[in-house]
Amino acid sequence: MLSERLAKIRELLEANGQAHLLSGWDHLQDEARTLLLDQLQLLPWDTIGVVRDSIVHQVESHPPPAAIDAPVICDPSPDESVELFDRGAEMIRAGRLAAFTVAGGQGTRLGWNGPKGTYPATPVSGKPLFAIFAEQLLAAQRRYGVVIPWYIMTSPLNDAATRSFFLDNKCFGLHRSNIMMFPQGTMPSFDARTGMLMLSGPGELAENPDGHGGALAAMARSGALADMEARGVTAISAFQVDNPLVRVVDECFVGMHETPELSSGEVSSKMVDKIDPDEPVGVFCQIDGRTRIVEYSDLQRDLAEERQSDGSLRFHAANIAIHLYSVAFVQSLTSSDAEPLPWHRALKKSPWWDASSGSVLEPDEPNVVKLERFIFDILPRARRSAILRTRRACEFAPIKNASGADSSASSRRIQSELYGGWLQDLGVSIPRDAEGHVSASIEIAPLTAMRKDDLRAADLPAHVEEGGSILL
Ligand code: UTP
Repeated sequence: MLSERLAKIRELLEANGQAHLLSGWDHLQDEARTLLLDQLQLLPWDTIGVVRDSIVHQVESHPPPAAIDAPVICDPSPDESVELFDRGAEMIRAGRLAAFTVAGGQGTRLGWNGPKGTYPATPVSGKPLFAIFAEQLLAAQRRYGVVIPWYIMTSPLNDAATRSFFLDNKCFGLHRSNIMMFPQGTMPSFDARTGMLMLSGPGELAENPDGHGGALAAMARSGALADMEARGVTAISAFQVDNPLVRVVDECFVGMHETPELSSGEVSSKMVDKIDPDEPVGVFCQIDGRTRIVEYSDLQRDLAEERQSDGSLRFHAANIAIHLYSVAFVQSLTSSDAEPLPWHRALKKSPWWDASSGSVLEPDEPNVVKLERFIFDILPRARRSAILRTRRACEFAPIKNASGADSSASSRRIQSELYGGWLQDLGVSIPRDAEGHVSASIEIAPLTAMRKDDLRAADLPAHVEEGGSILL
């Protein structure tokens, strides 16, 4: 039986020029052999050859077309914000909102030994990222008297660890039945030099999660979309796992998304102002009447540097990966006749198994091409996509790197800065250094306050010590 399967798969591999994948076969036990054959059989063979020829070997960027424009940004006045807030609050109160976290990434730059959502992120208590989001959901559920179900996309590599973390922490006070986890798909990794598929060990195919864009297929396959529909959810608040300042439930953003004059209600996004032309972020653009994100590496220099009469960058709207999708829109994108999202190529360093020496080798240089789908490629599929301006200092403190920019240290500083500002506005004396930065660690838990106004009735200290720490 096994030998029959082996013969068929060998034929398939030879036809695709990938026969080396069986090179560790003789050293494998039967169980490992069956697993390998299962893996090889399930590979998307109809696309592997095509993507290898068209993407793996291709290194040039994709400059956007000449007819590119800056998109319209929604920057509501205080009065308009109140209106949007009320509209959003009504929608949330009706139980129509769900939260969705993409948490399937490998977090290689951070180098944390575990799912990124378990990373201690806050400046005083070192609360894990997942706990911050859970507390925000708890606070919003209490405020609105509804259930806000939470969907979390893991990957086959971190699914079990993520589930255990939630169980060990009693789901951070949320009801277990309102949290649904599901793994995303994978894609085989390619040898950057030869375009061949690779092994990570004898009989182990090297694979990587298929990108946050894998969320579409994963939401459909897992039944998450059907579950949302059954619960009466119509909109999904979607965010990445590594931003402790994300507002999981943002009434004003939901209100904008639900306003037909502003948005077709299919997908809406938040933006912050790009710091300078060199900041490596994707920017929102308008191309052929549709909103899309052009990656940093694809935006020509002259466009990246172009300024408006007031001195601001023309392409200033930086993507911070915070979106709202309608359930109906995601369903339409996952139907059998919908065109799949494109693949993007990333060159990475990854250990691999060398059949000739029979050992796992650590490369010195990037050696692997990983193919990933990006969720923001759904934007141009929407008829009219709205973008809300928000302030970086209030909503964006990502933890991507082990040190420097976008690291745990920079994120903690941004968090202390924000909460220090709230307290100062409410009369607390806050220590600052010569450059005016908060020189203490300050943390305000989501269950204490979701926004500054929630603290007005709180018992606040008169001052915070220089170099001290305070947790409210
Ligand atoms: P990043 O692009 O920062 O990737 O993911 P990463 O895998 O976390 O980190 P590096 O690049 O290996 O250092 C942004 C968000 O998208 C999720 C991540 O979990 C994070 O929330 N993501 C990324 C997925 O869910 N799946 C993927 O395949 C890739």
